[in-house]
Amino acid sequence: MDPIRVVITGAAGQIAYSLLHSVAKGDVFGKDQPVELMLLDIEPMMTVLGGVVMEVMDCSLPLVRNVVPTADPMVAFKDADVAMLVGAMPRREGMERKDLLKANVKIFKAQGQAMDDVAKKTIKVVVVGNPANTNAFICAKYAPSIPKENFSALTRLDQNRAQAQVANKLGIPCNDVNNCIIWGNHSSTQFPDVSYATVKVAGKELEANSAIKDDHWVRNDFISTVQKRGACVIAARKLSSAMSAANAIVDHVRDWWQGSGDRMVSMAVWSNDNKYGIASELMYSFPVKTAAKGKIEIVNGLKIEEWQRERMDLTCKELVEERDAALAECEE
Ligand code: NAD
Ligand code: LMR
Repeated sequence: MDPIRVVITGAAGQIAYSLLHSVAKGDVFGKDQPVELMLLDIEPMMTVLGGVVMEVMDCSLPLVRNVVPTADPMVAFKDADVAMLVGAMPRREGMERKDLLKANVKIFKAQGQAMDDVAKKTIKVVVVGNPANTNAFICAKYAPSIPKENFSALTRLDQNRAQAQVANKLGIPCNDVNNCIIWGNHSSTQFPDVSYATVKVAGKELEANSAIKDDHWVRNDFISTVQKRGACVIAARKLSSAMSAANAIVDHVRDWWQGSGDRMVSMAVWSNDNKYGIASELMYSFPVKTAAKGKIEIVNGLKIEEWQRERMDLTCKELVEERDAALAECEE
């Protein structure tokens, strides 16, 4: 099989350090898919990145056919099949993710422009660097020759956090929880929702709500725990999440590349056609299903109650504000 070209940006940073081994050994693209790794970081990090390249080589992994460290986006994105855009400043304690907009958004403008010039038009892009949804919007906007549906932002970490909270509440393994959804922004306004989730308890498949039997928890503590989880990790580690972020990137891209099957998963994708009443031209996290090799379909027809509507609209409003601020920043 021919190798695919995979770009990882922020390759000298902490998330990339947790991510590279999984990508290189076939957890994302399959155990028979060779990869060329294009590792992008900024010039002052090239010595560190050189050490990371040595370690990738020293893992002696048969799927890795080439590793290219570079500080030049035009080299990194040339003919790329997949891009995991991690490289950006992380937040520190006391900040919201949108406080990073000014520092980070132009990175994604420049990388969108580079992809537009040199990447394959079929490239699949996941944006991780915060504020992830809005950076993904800008990246897509500045790559007009690449279809908007080829861009996404990561909300899988939030979905995994939600699943883990439900599993913990019921005392069951995480893989016995399915179809937890994240609506909206990867921010403290996100709406983690178990309304359509199912769980397996004592061998029986049940609706999550009827197994949990605690509406107050589902509508309050559960939501705020997931919303604030990133900040709690930062407060404890003095660094933002890395192992769990890398694990979520693997889940997101694997499901995009290999198909999600019957499960709903959450991805922030380009909103259009007013789906679920969400404004068009935003990167909004929806429940989606993915077919192998890349088609993402937003799940249609889920029934939305009034209390859900309010939360979906609140996070949408924040995304509209972030988008408009980002566009103004990029036009300066
Ligand atoms: P880090 O500081 O350890 O690493 C970031 C790396 O990006 C650094 O090596 C830096 O030099 C590099 N970089 C900066 N500008 C770049 C550019 N223009 N091109 C290429 N590389 C560049 O940070 P980290 O912990 O790896 O986090 C990276 C980003 O991911 C942060 O913005 C963080 O907030 C975000 N994040 C998002 C999620 C999510 O779920 N969406 C989860 C965790 C972290
Ligand atoms: C996370 O959710 O852990 C990341 O987005 C990092 C952060 O700033 O919270």
